[in-house]
Amino acid sequence: MPDRFPSDFLWGVATSAYQIEGAVAEGGRTPSIWDTFSHTPGRTAGGDTGDVAVDHFHRMREDVALMAELGLTSYRFSVSWSRVQPTGRGPAVQLGLDFYQRLVDELLDRGIAPALTLYHWDLPQELEDAGGWPARDTACRFAEYAALVGAALGDRVERWITLNEPWCSAFLGYGSGVHAPGRTSPEASLQAAHHLNLAHGQATSALRAAMPARNQIAVSLNSAVVRPRSQDPADLEAARRIDDLANGVFHGPMLHGAYPEHLFADTASVTDWAFVHDGDLRAIHQPLDALGLNYYTTSLVSAAEPDRADSRADGHGTSAHSPWPGAASVAFHQPPGERTAMGWAIDPSGLYDLLLRYTKEAPGLPLLVTENGAACDDRPGPDGAVHDPDRIRYLRDHLAVVRRAMEAGADVRGYYLWSLMDNFEWSYGYGKRFGAVYVDYETLARTPKSSARWYAELARTGELPEV
Ligand code: FCB
Repeated sequence: MPDRFPSDFLWGVATSAYQIEGAVAEGGRTPSIWDTFSHTPGRTAGGDTGDVAVDHFHRMREDVALMAELGLTSYRFSVSWSRVQPTGRGPAVQLGLDFYQRLVDELLDRGIAPALTLYHWDLPQELEDAGGWPARDTACRFAEYAALVGAALGDRVERWITLNEPWCSAFLGYGSGVHAPGRTSPEASLQAAHHLNLAHGQATSALRAAMPARNQIAVSLNSAVVRPRSQDPADLEAARRIDDLANGVFHGPMLHGAYPEHLFADTASVTDWAFVHDGDLRAIHQPLDALGLNYYTTSLVSAAEPDRADSRADGHGTSAHSPWPGAASVAFHQPPGERTAMGWAIDPSGLYDLLLRYTKEAPGLPLLVTENGAACDDRPGPDGAVHDPDRIRYLRDHLAVVRRAMEAGADVRGYYLWSLMDNFEWSYGYGKRFGAVYVDYETLARTPKSSARWYAELARTGELPEV
């Protein structure tokens, strides 16, 4: 019997503004922290930038037509904040909003449900210059921006996501510095985490006030699946500590209105958390309509044995600075088994664990897999076709566990493949290909890979075929 998904299950793909749009200086858009960062020598592989990216800004209709041809039912994209509100303050710029209005109209015309992410890491540079996420005011600025976008698009976009992977914004952006803005202060990373939480809460309230009540608001977390290397109490404690820093630091306040019990003590050498003000947790703890989970791989940790740990094994790039404040006592190890072209271990069981964890942690809250996918070394064959059997296997195995998790009680409403097409993979530049559609970076021509055809068939039938 093939696995069958419910007929209203959302079959989506995901992208983000800086990774695909290009047109960085058009229509009044100003630089975001990713423009500045990618233009700073040494920050991205090969000095790659998003200046042109895959030129989606100019090829939007073609890209939506491709999604329609593949029979997709939802599209998760993000809005470039500095395209809509160039200084991060004040009124919206109509030229910037126009692009997203046209995109949404195009999607709706073709029966594709838009899922709009407000923040996928591209803070307007002016706001970074004013302090960035470690500054409290950035949360207020974000709520104001959310209200502007909500007022402009809330009549047509029903699915909203406040933040994408705030862990990366806070800890890779301000801790290890491998992401923009490239700062390396453990205290700033925790301040950023708190202000991102506050931004999420305040934006959720602002969106509710600006939009029709039927609209759904979610957040997308890159919840880590942290596995201890053994059942030794010291290894269990290491896993608990990383789990709090990876997951609890966000879902604690967002879902339960409290930071994890041991987090303040764990990070006492870094900060006293005086930046948490009275009332903040109440502001952050807003009712949500869905929880978005982005899943790629698992982490394997133990109590520190520095000689045996692999500093690169946490999968988040190389830096002399750790993205884990106060966790010098923890070592990361490469999980066993096959890996993708990112070096990330392939482990579908992690997605199963994650879906069941949040089914328990947030009973009654619908779940969405807002990102899942694999980077492969894709190359066109002599006939121009791109065959990516490894990606198909990855997708199949992960979707099979989504189905199993649903049978076990997880209320999963949809799945968004990362990504529609190859694009700017942050500090890895264009070297890592995650797309279901191949992009020739010379001509920017798009060619659906075999995985795109495979996924289209799945979207059409709802049945998961054998590979
Ligand atoms: C996620 C990001 C997304 C993409 C994938 C591979 O962490 O949200 O933009 O880079 O990883």
